[in-house]
Amino acid sequence: MNYQPILDEIAEEIKPYFGRGKVADYIPALAQVPPTKFGIAIQTVDGEVFTVGDAAERFSTQSVSKLFTLTLAIKLVGEKLWERVGREPSGNPFNSLVQLEYEQGIPRNPFINAGAHIVTDHICSHTDNGAQSILDFIHTITNDKTIAYDPEVAQSEKETGHRNAALANFLKSFGRLDNDVQTVLNVYYQHCSLRMSCLDLARATLYLANGGFHPLTGQRILTRSQAKRVNSLLLTCGLYDAVGDFAFRVGLPAKSGVGGGIVAIMPRMLTIAVWSPELNEPGNSLIGTKALELFTIKTGQSIF
Ligand code: DON
Repeated sequence: MNYQPILDEIAEEIKPYFGRGKVADYIPALAQVPPTKFGIAIQTVDGEVFTVGDAAERFSTQSVSKLFTLTLAIKLVGEKLWERVGREPSGNPFNSLVQLEYEQGIPRNPFINAGAHIVTDHICSHTDNGAQSILDFIHTITNDKTIAYDPEVAQSEKETGHRNAALANFLKSFGRLDNDVQTVLNVYYQHCSLRMSCLDLARATLYLANGGFHPLTGQRILTRSQAKRVNSLLLTCGLYDAVGDFAFRVGLPAKSGVGGGIVAIMPRMLTIAVWSPELNEPGNSLIGTKALELFTIKTGQSIF
């Protein structure tokens, strides 16, 4: 299918939505990104690529990186991962502290911040250098060694990351972290600072649209069953407390980040990554969500 006319139409139709959201400013380095940036990239399992707008420009992936850390942790730890993190939607904001107290330090899922700290802790325990191992893994699945962390964004988040520090200390107090709090936080801030474009993200995640086997690099990244599980977690937890509305509107497993990126998976067909920095109230890209909704409406394609 030629998706190009559909992407061109979407780029026109989202224009009235600029100015309705707000660029993340709680990490000061993110506040500098121009709000009018917009891009989409589609990568099909057959090797076709379609783009519109700023699809090749790299931006801060933030929580989209949790998709890659989860994949890496599943590879490193396997089933043991689920002893310290759950698989249920949280119904709470991504950085909420309340649930963690009454659920004894077992985060609801690996995508809320507390769950991502558990995932990062496992990576730190099973590698010599957590941050480098995550980056090496991204380089492997993209076949692109130019993808890098942004030290300025990582430092900016470290300086203002009081909530993450609270969550990690809370986890430690329940005995749920094996590594030092600061070690885990430093790796977390680094992987959140990963800079990738829509094109990079669509290419990197293609194994999830293809039963765990990456058709572009010829590598098996996850087993078919593990890939099914990651997609299921994306569908139920990938957009935090907006996940129900997103599934209702878009109907695809997806992961968002406060940098304004969202990557969505159409199993057996394609991946689609969108970038628009203005966020809605729950912290997901407002125009990115709209663009994905328009995509599934116009193509009639979703997982349902
Ligand atoms: O921990 C944080 O607050 C950020 N590094 C990541 C948050 C994020 O992207 C949530 N997603 N929408």
